[in-house]
Amino acid sequence: GNKNINAKLVLLGDVGAGKSSLVLRFVKGQFVEFQESTIGAAFFSQTLAVNDATVKFEIWDTAGQERYHSLAPMYYRGAAAAIIVYDITNQGSFDRAKKWVQELQAQGNPNMVMALAGNKSDLLDSRKVAAEDAQTYAQENGLFFMETSAKSAANQRDCRECNQYRIQPG
Ligand code: GTP
Ligand code: MG
Repeated sequence: GNKNINAKLVLLGDVGAGKSSLVLRFVKGQFVEFQESTIGAAFFSQTLAVNDATVKFEIWDTAGQERYHSLAPMYYRGAAAAIIVYDITNQGSFDRAKKWVQELQAQGNPNMVMALAGNKSDLLDSRKVAAEDAQTYAQENGLFFMETSAKSAANQRDCRECNQYRIQPG
């Protein structure tokens, strides 16, 4: 039978890692070079057909700026899944991602699915974080891991497939 599933998803990570850009890519299939830094948090939704189920993603795109850190629990509490984003060209953003993982392990919903995304994979020449190091860290901590590019859409669904699965605009 047809199932309707609501899935609350939260994105966390350092300033400029590309959280908003990944969400914009997922929800609208777009990328902008001059994405503004998020203030507080932004909400998006996207409904997809997955097998015989209709999944409505309710997405909280949080702000990476440290002054908004205290708001984060409001968004990750009750989330079914978290994507922790870092920038492969910025070692500090990888260190920050590990801090987020520690915080979620300590304070988050124990059933939450966590994924680590090494974003900006199009900027290979500026890479500072080895994919192997991130993969090892993810494995040790029970996280899914992938490198992504909000710009090139690498590792996201092929656009035709996107349109096929997308039910309604967010
Ligand atoms: P805060 O809202 O401040 O926490 O940042 P954010 O994590 O939402 O980052 P945002 O999406 O605003 O992206 C920051 C900058 O990186 C923007 O200028 C984006 O255009 C750029 N950017 C994001 N993703 C990519 C990517 O995959 N590749 C490249 N080359 N640039 C990217
Ligand atoms: Mg943002």
